[in-house]
Amino acid sequence: MNHEDISPRVALVTGGSRGIGRAVVTRLAHSGWSVAFTYAGSKEASQQLVSELREKGANCRADQADVRDFERAQQLSEEISSDLGPVGLLVNNAGIKRDQALFGMTLKAWQEVIDTNLGGTFNYCRAVVPSMMKRRSGVIVNVVSVSGIVGLPGQVNYSASKAGVIGLTRSLAREVARFGLRINAVAPGLIETDMTRDMPEKALKRLLEQIPARSMGTADQVAQVVEFLAGDGAAYITGQVLPIDGGMA
Ligand SMILES: NC(=O)c1ccc[n+]([C@@H]2O[C@H](COP(=O)([O-])OP(=O)(O)OC[C@H]3O[C@@H](n4cnc5c(N)ncnc54)[C@H](OP(=O)(O)O)[C@@H]3O)[C@@H](O)[C@H]2O)c1
Repeated sequence: MNHEDISPRVALVTGGSRGIGRAVVTRLAHSGWSVAFTYAGSKEASQQLVSELREKGANCRADQADVRDFERAQQLSEEISSDLGPVGLLVNNAGIKRDQALFGMTLKAWQEVIDTNLGGTFNYCRAVVPSMMKRRSGVIVNVVSVSGIVGLPGQVNYSASKAGVIGLTRSLAREVARFGLRINAVAPGLIETDMTRDMPEKALKRLLEQIPARSMGTADQVAQVVEFLAGDGAAYITGQVLPIDGGMA
């Protein structure tokens, strides 16, 4: 990657302790970014990742921060700015699913997913965009899902949250393009992480049948696209949603 394209090269990744977020943090750190990442409960895994990356010479930090907490997002982005430098890349990755058919879906399952996936993305965009606008430089990559594009049964909450983030991405991209900011989304299909590990075999088989590539993707395949969107090769790309799904959507 060409490191002269984005200044400053400080990235903030939400939900970096596991899965796709962890792969993004690792890839960015190996490419020379200073990386701050958040987690909800995985303190040990996060500290271990920080130690591993620091051993390899990377500049990074991990902070416990629930993405649903608006004030915490503001406070953390200021802290990161004074510690590592102003955030030049935000990756809104933290997300959850609470799958249930609509007729059995609790209000709690609806609210938690909307507040985390959509609310969390708003909170972190709101925290970093003003400073990016002032500096006339910045990139945001939102991690959505194929479910937010085509809809999947049992996921009205999840699908609505991700479709919401797609709307946020397109709208914000138009708002801030003239300030030199780029806002894009990646839409993974079926990726091997904890989120998909507990899927019943039958459901997994059914989903694989809908994927032309007939296989699951890896977290690092998503991370590579995030890195591309963050870099100069994507300098004229904004407001886009890029599926990474083996042809599923
Ligand atoms: N895996 C897939 O097939 C797939 C497909 C499409 C889209 N996605 C999207 O990709 C993103 C990452 O998914 P994944 O599969 O890597 O999930 P994962 O392995 O379950 O990891 C989720 C990450 O989000 C963090 N997180 C969850 N709730 C949080 C909260 N309230 N505040 C802060 N951090 C929180 C977790 O932190 P802790 O470790 O502390 O809990 C963890 O780091 C999500 O947005 C997901 O919707 C995944």
